[in-house]
Amino acid sequence: MKIETYPLKNGMVIPKIGLGTFRITPDDCEKTVSAAIQSGYRLIDTANVYMNERAVGRGVKNSGVARDEILIASKIWPTEYKYKKAGKAIDATLSRLGVDTLDLLILHQPFGRVDEAWRAAEEAVKAGKVKLLGVSNFDEDDLEKLLTYCTIKPILDQVECHPYCQRRTLGAYLREHEILLESWYPLGSGSVGLFAEQAVSALSEKYKKSPAQIILRWHVEEGYLPIPGTKNPTHAAENADIFDFSLTDEELSSLRALDRNERFFKMKKWVQRRAVFFQRMNYEKQK
Ligand SMILES: NC(=O)c1ccc[n+]([C@@H]2O[C@H](COP(=O)([O-])OP(=O)(O)OC[C@H]3O[C@@H](n4cnc5c(N)ncnc54)[C@H](OP(=O)(O)O)[C@@H]3O)[C@@H](O)[C@H]2O)c1
Repeated sequence: MKIETYPLKNGMVIPKIGLGTFRITPDDCEKTVSAAIQSGYRLIDTANVYMNERAVGRGVKNSGVARDEILIASKIWPTEYKYKKAGKAIDATLSRLGVDTLDLLILHQPFGRVDEAWRAAEEAVKAGKVKLLGVSNFDEDDLEKLLTYCTIKPILDQVECHPYCQRRTLGAYLREHEILLESWYPLGSGSVGLFAEQAVSALSEKYKKSPAQIILRWHVEEGYLPIPGTKNPTHAAENADIFDFSLTDEELSSLRALDRNERFFKMKKWVQRRAVFFQRMNYEKQK
């Protein structure tokens, strides 16, 4: 199975779909990552707070595919954003993954000392420890601020995005700044309601593709980069098998009509800002 890619400004490319690993236990994660790579995935998304970076590292190694063909993305949490801590957090991520270079480092949330974390991240790029930088959960105002001082621009912004929450305004802003929109919860977190929508099931029937494949194809046609999560290798293979059909403008419109600006992850920004600082975990304790 061949996964198409988006070109990046520095000459690299990034797959149009990746594998998400949130809420996946180390044992499931190791197996699914290996199987997904064997079925064609070349982008794996993890984070310090998912507590499965070691398993991702093992899964990549056991896949039998050369390390330099695979992009691993990981994220650091705001509790580690102070300059010195951020540098240490990046080194610890490399060590848990068991790699010399991290392909994509993402700042997980737009809270706390983003400026200091970004400085540490840029230095990690200059030192050859990290190849690309990205952000997550950044709105336009968070990006505006970052763009005033960064010397290396983020290649992507990973945000909640699915047919019920299509992020049109942010999407236009990101396009204007040549930053990719990477969709988390791309399947609405496996929402049964979304899979059963008439607009989705009609296309599922027409193209002989599953509802998940129709939704993921929609993301790609919008120019987004979905990272569906699964602990099931059959689902992983199915989710990436979306490059042999395309949707017409009319069909895309029928899916665009599902937008109701509804987030599955509902939390006011100020509550979220406070909540992230309570999330202190011992990342070294993972399997
Ligand atoms: N940056 C952030 O703040 C943030 C937040 C949340 C998530 N993320 C990232 O985004 C990724 C995706 O989010 P997510 O995994 O929570 O949600 P998701 O991809 O929208 O949905 C995952 C759910 O869909 C099910 N599923 C997957 N493929 C399926 C298929 N073909 N048919 C039927 N069900 C299917 C999975 O169950 P099975 O396991 O049974 O397949 C799982 O329950 C995460 O893994 C993580 O990497 C980032």
